[in-house]
Amino acid sequence: LNSLRVKLGERSYDIISGNRIFAEFGNLCRAMKLGERVMIITNPTIGRFYLGTLKESLVNHGYKVVDLEIPDGEEYKNLATLKLIYDALVDARLDRSSFLVALGGGVVGDITGFAAATYLRGLSYVQVPTTLLAQVDSSVGGKTGINHEKGKNLIGAFYQPKMVLIDVSTLDTLPEREYISGLAEVVKYGIVCDTGYFHFLDENVDNLLKRDKSCLETIINRSCELKASVVSRDEREAGLRAILNFGHTIGHAIESLTEYKKYLHGEAVAIGMAQAAKISEKLGYSSGDDTRKIVSLLEKLGLPVDLPRFDMELYLKAINHDKKVKDGGIIFVLNNGIGAFSLEKITDLDSLLKTCRIGG
Ligand SMILES: NC(=O)c1ccc[n+]([C@@H]2O[C@H](COP(=O)([O-])OP(=O)(O)OC[C@H]3O[C@@H](n4cnc5c(N)ncnc54)[C@H](O)[C@@H]3O)[C@@H](O)[C@H]2O)c1
Repeated sequence: LNSLRVKLGERSYDIISGNRIFAEFGNLCRAMKLGERVMIITNPTIGRFYLGTLKESLVNHGYKVVDLEIPDGEEYKNLATLKLIYDALVDARLDRSSFLVALGGGVVGDITGFAAATYLRGLSYVQVPTTLLAQVDSSVGGKTGINHEKGKNLIGAFYQPKMVLIDVSTLDTLPEREYISGLAEVVKYGIVCDTGYFHFLDENVDNLLKRDKSCLETIINRSCELKASVVSRDEREAGLRAILNFGHTIGHAIESLTEYKKYLHGEAVAIGMAQAAKISEKLGYSSGDDTRKIVSLLEKLGLPVDLPRFDMELYLKAINHDKKVKDGGIIFVLNNGIGAFSLEKITDLDSLLKTCRIGG
C-alpha cells in the first residue's frame, strides 16, 4: 500500500493507493477509528462491479453497513438526488458518529461529500474514487457540491474526507473515453507543476494507453502528491490553488457552449490547455517548442486540441459567466515554459484567442 498525507492541520488525512486493495478497507477504517455505522453511496454502474467487495470488507470488520445507489450521470448531481440521500440517511437513522463512503467517480464523490458536510451539520466521509479523474483530482482537496440548473457546482462546501482509498484495478472497467479524458488532468499537473513529470508522461504514452498498472500507480501517486501540496498551501483557493484551473477557463466555456453534450470534462480541458499554451507563448511566457510539445502529448493520448468554432462573442459571454472573472479581467493561468505557471489578469482575451486559436 502507498500512503500519502494531505497536510491540513487537524483536517489532515491519508491517500492510500494500490492494486486490488478493497479487502483492506474495513481494516483501514478501523485504524482510522471511524464509527460503527456506515452508508456506502454509489451508482448501479459502479455498484455492480465493486460494491460487493467493499461492503464485505466492512462487514468482516464488524461494521453495520447500508448502501444507496443514486442514478448515474452528471444530470443527477442535483438537489433532487441530494434529497434522496438525506431521506435514506434519516431512514437508516445514521447519527453523528456514523460515516459515509463515496464509491464512484466525481459525481458520486462531490454529492456524497456535500451530503456528509451538511447532514447533522457534518459527518465523516471517505472517498473511494473509481474514475481516473476522481483518483487524480476530484477526490482530493475537499471541494464538494452539486449543480444548479443555471450552472455547474454552484452549491457546495469545502469539506475534507477522513481518508481517500484508491484501487487502481477499478480502472480496468472504466470506459476508454472516460479514461482518456481523465488523462487530461494528469497532463495538467505536468504542464504547470513539474517538468520531470511532463517528460515522464511523454515517454510513457504507450504504457498510459495500455493502462499499465505500475505506470498508473506512478501517475496517481505523483498527481495526488502535487494536488495535495497545492491544497495544503491554499485549501480555499485564495490564490495558488487556482493554478489547478489551467485550461479550465476556456474548457468550461467549451462545455457550456456545447451544452455539456459534445465533450467530456477532460476533453474540453485538453482543448483549453492547448489554447492556454498558445496564449502563454504569445505573451512571452513560453516558446513555440513548449507549445508544440504540449499539443503533441495531448494528441498522442487521443485528446482533442482544436477550439470548436463559435462566435468569439459567445466565448466571451460564456467566460464572463465563470466564477473566476474579477473586476473586468480574468485571472488566467499560464504555463511558464513547461513545469511552472504564472497567473495574470487578462482583459483582452478575445483578441488573444483570435490570434492564438488552434484548429477549429
Ligand atoms: N471536487 C473536485 O475538486 C472536482 C474536480 C474535478 C471534477 N469534479 C466533478 O467530477 C465530476 C466528473 O467526474 P467523473 O469524470 O469521474 O465522471 P462520473 O462520476 O460521471 O463518472 C463517469 C462515468 O463512469 C462510470 N464509472 C465510474 N467508475 C467506473 C468504473 N471503475 N468502471 C466502469 N464505469 C465507471 C460512472 O458511472 C459514469 O457513468 C463532475 O461533476 C465535476 O464537476 C470535481
